[in-house]
Amino acid sequence: MNKQEVIICEELKNSLTQAIGRCPHDRLFLLTDEHTHRLCLPLLQGLTAIGEAEEIVIGAEDVHKNLDTLAAVWQALSQRGATRHSLLINLGGGMVTDLGGFAASTFKRGIAYINLPTTLLAMVDASVGGKTGINFNGLKNEIGCFCPAESVLIETEFLRTLDDRNFFSGYAEMLKHGLISNQEHLNELLAFDTRHIDYTLLKQMVGRSVEVKEQIVEQDPHEHGIRKALNLGHTIGHAFESLALAQGRPVLHGYAVAWGLVCELYLSHTRCAFPKELMRQTIAFIKENYGGFAFTCKEYDRLYELMTHDKKNTAGIINFTLLKGTGDICLNQTADKETIFETFDFYRECMGM
Ligand code: GLY
Repeated sequence: MNKQEVIICEELKNSLTQAIGRCPHDRLFLLTDEHTHRLCLPLLQGLTAIGEAEEIVIGAEDVHKNLDTLAAVWQALSQRGATRHSLLINLGGGMVTDLGGFAASTFKRGIAYINLPTTLLAMVDASVGGKTGINFNGLKNEIGCFCPAESVLIETEFLRTLDDRNFFSGYAEMLKHGLISNQEHLNELLAFDTRHIDYTLLKQMVGRSVEVKEQIVEQDPHEHGIRKALNLGHTIGHAFESLALAQGRPVLHGYAVAWGLVCELYLSHTRCAFPKELMRQTIAFIKENYGGFAFTCKEYDRLYELMTHDKKNTAGIINFTLLKGTGDICLNQTADKETIFETFDFYRECMGM
């Protein structure tokens, strides 16, 4: 997989003009959703290339990350004259960058694309690293491929209008990057005043967070080894996310990851001797900023069953990434059902659920 260029923008219009210039193309297409069309596109006004681009607008939010929307994007590209030499710009959150990336990587066997992420989650995670895809058959990101964008342009000015819930959703992935990288970065994340955001500092932290992901993806683009570190908090987090969805009380991805981190730090502590004080500090931050996810012991079997469907498992064995310490990663860890149930007990007790 080619290394993708990730730029923390000082001036978005300049960065975008340069990025477009580096991708020779015949036609330019711009994918937005109903929200980014209204709220983010105006920031690109006055850019000749964007003015001339063919815009494709899709429905917003995860519910539209499906085959019908993908087909509509293929259809629009086809009907409006896209060729193999056309270029697609994805302006949006993770749903737009994942679906748009997949549409681009499959249309006429693949056209070039640029990601312009507009949410914190998309900036530090979804838009970087070449994972593209859609939900299918009730399963998240069930269909997709690895195909990196030509460029990812991160403009943190978009974060000034992000609502609190989407801010915290993305911040959970930053916490994960802190935990799997180094103590200094984790400390600054835990000390950050999330109620009175310093956007200059946030921009610097976003840069460091993206670097953590880039370094890992560069070593292992197709997730055979170290990229699994990025799954910290996700094995149990995905089960919380799926249970919440099935019960008609959907939660944002990053919230599920934060709650998954609580469980997987406990597992890290009991199985890999992750320091208790650091676990306590991180869990306190999560409890204060994310609240908790309520479930009872009657739901343990369902959560366990959901974990067995995780696409990172091999031969039906549930696979965890755990930690010995900050940045000290233990890949391919397993835990039996009893241990996982004990983890749920710990979670409910310490989160007061
Ligand atoms: N979101 C985890 C990864 O890109 O591998």
